[in-house]
Amino acid sequence: MKKAIITGARRIGFWIAKRLLRENWQVGIIYRTYSDSIRELESDFGRNVIAVKADLSDLDNLKAPIDSLLDSLGGIDCLLHLASPYIPTKFGNVSKSDLFEHINPIALSFFLVVQHCVPYMLKNQGPIKGRILAFGDWATNTTPYRGYGAYFLAKGALHTSIKVLARELAPDVLVNAIALGPVLKPEHISQELWESYILKTPLKREVSIEDITELSLFLLKVSSMTGEIINLDSGRHVCGECE
Ligand SMILES: NC(=O)c1ccc[n+]([C@@H]2O[C@H](COP(=O)([O-])OP(=O)(O)OC[C@H]3O[C@@H](n4cnc5c(N)ncnc54)[C@H](OP(=O)(O)O)[C@@H]3O)[C@@H](O)[C@H]2O)c1
Repeated sequence: MKKAIITGARRIGFWIAKRLLRENWQVGIIYRTYSDSIRELESDFGRNVIAVKADLSDLDNLKAPIDSLLDSLGGIDCLLHLASPYIPTKFGNVSKSDLFEHINPIALSFFLVVQHCVPYMLKNQGPIKGRILAFGDWATNTTPYRGYGAYFLAKGALHTSIKVLARELAPDVLVNAIALGPVLKPEHISQELWESYILKTPLKREVSIEDITELSLFLLKVSSMTGEIINLDSGRHVCGECE
């Protein structure tokens, strides 16, 4: 039975977890807030779901929850990192805590969790001993929009870490990312604004959950791709300027 650890399983992560569980994977989840999503996964998939609470901002206390998941799962094949705040920050008033509130869970915890999981991956058989998949954002490093500086700084570090880790971990562990466009409306923005974002994509539609789960599964099985960041964004990245 394949084993995955997923950080952040409230919305998109929930659908990916569900898909893996249906394919008979065992899934360990790192959650910050116990949500209906976690409750549903536990109730539908029983002992194949192991959920552990951790705040990924707290970099000094990541080892215990990850150890507990690795022990309960008895190893790990794949790590999926979705945990990410998405909080607007006004340039000029961005505080140190705004910056750390984003970069810790998005990028720094990712790097540390990877370092912690890789020795367990290296115990696996086969030329490919593990796969890592992170979730970035189409606008990172190309067209970051205004008002989300702390978020984009953190996603930029995450995108860089994909390349850094792909080099460090080859040939045993593959490291890739999906850079998403609009999928699910963030709670803090209006429906009207959200629809305007969708209209800026050439395809004029949200990225589908089905596409995300399919591409994720592909990247959890692929054997000849590493260090790649794939835009899955209804074509948004080819349209340039945001405003
Ligand atoms: N939704 C979109 O349209 C979209 C677009 C572009 C990129 N993405 C990327 O896709 C991924 C999933 O997006 P989503 O919309 O499903 O995100 P979401 O609903 O906002 O959920 C993000 C998850 O991250 C967790 N999280 C945030 N800060 C954390 C921390 N300090 N420690 C532990 N967990 C933390 C949240 O936990 P809580 O439940 O405690 O808040 C939640 O489970 C993210 O990486 C996001 O940046 C999404």
